[in-house]
Amino acid sequence: MRLKDKVAIVTGAGWGMGASTAELFAAEGACVMVTDILDAEGTDVVARINDSGGQARFLTLDVTNDTGWASVVGETISTFGQIDILVNNAGVSGSHPDLLNTQTWDEQMDVNARGVFLGMQAVIPQMQKAGAGSIVNISSISGIVGQSFVHMGYNAAKGAVRMASKAAAVQFAPDGIRVNSVHPGLMPAMRTSKMTADPKVREKMLSAVPFGRVGRVEEVAYANLFLASDESSYITGIELPVDGGFLAM
Ligand SMILES: NC(=O)c1ccc[n+]([C@@H]2O[C@H](COP(=O)([O-])OP(=O)(O)OC[C@H]3O[C@@H](n4cnc5c(N)ncnc54)[C@H](O)[C@@H]3O)[C@@H](O)[C@H]2O)c1
Repeated sequence: MRLKDKVAIVTGAGWGMGASTAELFAAEGACVMVTDILDAEGTDVVARINDSGGQARFLTLDVTNDTGWASVVGETISTFGQIDILVNNAGVSGSHPDLLNTQTWDEQMDVNARGVFLGMQAVIPQMQKAGAGSIVNISSISGIVGQSFVHMGYNAAKGAVRMASKAAAVQFAPDGIRVNSVHPGLMPAMRTSKMTADPKVREKMLSAVPFGRVGRVEEVAYANLFLASDESSYITGIELPVDGGFLAM
């Protein structure tokens, strides 16, 4: 078991890549705090984990809410005793027909960038006390290149996640904390996708993927598993693309 005796918090774990990551981590021996704004979906993930012999609990968490973060950290420690891993996965899509919309910019910064910062802010003091920890921040190919179909706020927020991860990696390495970012490419459409759920747009995006197919959620979950586990004990501050060789569009 690759995460035996570890405790992980995964955000946005009710659906998509977050759910896949939570289930894989539990199968590899971690106790998982599944968090999301989707209560029913998060509870289903926990039921699947517990039914297959794993250990998990669900807590409602909006990642933009700092008091919510404090209570998730407190509950995780009182339930599972420690926090070894944080996967900052929750996110909202940047696919919006109005590429110059201010509200979209603000939402992107709030959820996709500030939400990731608040997560690190909440868990790092606990990891410092323990002298160890691994944080995996889910960015995107959009944090590396610009794209025609995505609001620039998404690229900016995902770019912020990429650079914040590198900064945190340098700042907290002396405490034994590793921080890395994962950059998925074209994956199943996000729940909040508008334009990028359109088959015509998706076909055009697919033409930029040398592998010629959409990624599978578990392919990202396995990258998260490697970075969360002690197998990557000398790796910090890296950006790991999981994108089938995605080319700039
Ligand atoms: N799907 C893609 O093509 C793709 C590509 C690259 C990166 N990503 C990133 O990967 C991560 C997961 O995406 P996904 O494809 O699984 O998306 P998804 O829409 O399937 O799942 C995202 C999850 O985050 C949750 N969430 C949204 N806002 C939240 C908030 N404020 N607080 C807490 N939870 C919230 C949602 O309820 C949902 O369960 C996101 O950060 C996304 O930006 C996705």
